[in-house]
Amino acid sequence: MANEIMHAVQYDSYGGGPSGLKHVEVPIPNPSKDEVLLKVEAASLNPFDWKVQKGMLWPFLPSRFPNIPGTDVAGEVVRVGPGVKNFKAGDKVVAMVNPRNGGGLAELAVTMKSLTVARPPEVSAATAVGLPVAGLTAHQALVQPAGIKLDGSGQQANILITAASGGVGLYAVQLAKLGNTHVTATCGARNIELVKSLGADEVIDYKTPEGAALKSPSGRKYDAVIHCATGIPWSTFEPNLSANGKVIDITPTLGSVASFALKKLTFSKKQLVPLLLSPKADNLDYLVKLVKEGKLKTIIDSKYPLAKAEDAWAKSMDGHATGKIIVEP
Ligand SMILES: NC(=O)c1ccc[n+]([C@@H]2O[C@H](COP(=O)([O-])OP(=O)(O)OC[C@H]3O[C@@H](n4cnc5c(N)ncnc54)[C@H](OP(=O)(O)O)[C@@H]3O)[C@@H](O)[C@H]2O)c1
Repeated sequence: MANEIMHAVQYDSYGGGPSGLKHVEVPIPNPSKDEVLLKVEAASLNPFDWKVQKGMLWPFLPSRFPNIPGTDVAGEVVRVGPGVKNFKAGDKVVAMVNPRNGGGLAELAVTMKSLTVARPPEVSAATAVGLPVAGLTAHQALVQPAGIKLDGSGQQANILITAASGGVGLYAVQLAKLGNTHVTATCGARNIELVKSLGADEVIDYKTPEGAALKSPSGRKYDAVIHCATGIPWSTFEPNLSANGKVIDITPTLGSVASFALKKLTFSKKQLVPLLLSPKADNLDYLVKLVKEGKLKTIIDSKYPLAKAEDAWAKSMDGHATGKIIVEP
């Protein structure tokens, strides 16, 4: 396969947005020892992808130019590196590409063995491919800092999920309701019925004064906030938190990290907790099983062919997707 080429989408400098993406023919990548080469059936976009292009993770990412973006892929194994024993050609999987290298927006992609999991026939590529970044982030936020037990065995907790209509938020609502929780969610008016249908107990329109103030209509104080929106100050959260309430900020800024440190130093009971995804195959496998059992749904905002990847990119940058944006080669 060394001389074979494939279609891919790449950019060769920071900035440029959708028009910085170029359609190219490049050599098919070779899986190294612990990697898997997939024929991509679906990729999904995350804000992470265009934030890397914008240079927001400079100097760490991307590791080089040109860069083929895209971390979330689902497809069929073509071949595996010599250190991979649990997959073989023909297996259907969902996986995460090494975020340092990217590579998802292509006909074929190399994934890490450690973040590749089997996909049963009941779970389509487009459904599974929303899970790696968005699903795992929702899962990590709920299980770790928020301490929610997804088997329903924990103490009752009041949870607020901001931007509940986004890629992370829609998974967070459904996963939170597997625990012993009361879920308040914020989203735009057009998505209120959808978010309720996925289990939220009460939903507020973020463009109303009550929504902007994050007030629970039933007067609850939140034990944890899964904060998927951006730009909401601590002063808005603070009066809505229970005595030990935590805001789990999945888009941490230098300010939120400083605030986290300050609250720790001052032994504040109310906490702002920055969260960065630490992806684990076991958790991805758990989410795939939930999808198979019908306990977790992927809401697809839109699907684009790889030939129109720049339109998918523009849609993600616009910040108004309802669920996941999928790209199919
Ligand atoms: N820490 C990590 O490791 C990690 C992992 C994944 C994601 N993230 C970050 O988490 C954030 C969310 O990611 P995502 O994939 O869910 O984004 P997304 O899918 O692009 O979110 C879009 C949705 O957010 C809604 N929204 C925007 N502002 C809102 C507000 N103030 N209140 C309520 N809803 C609002 C929009 O609703 P309307 O269309 O009605 O405006 C839209 O439905 C991003 O900043 C992303 O970079 C971080």
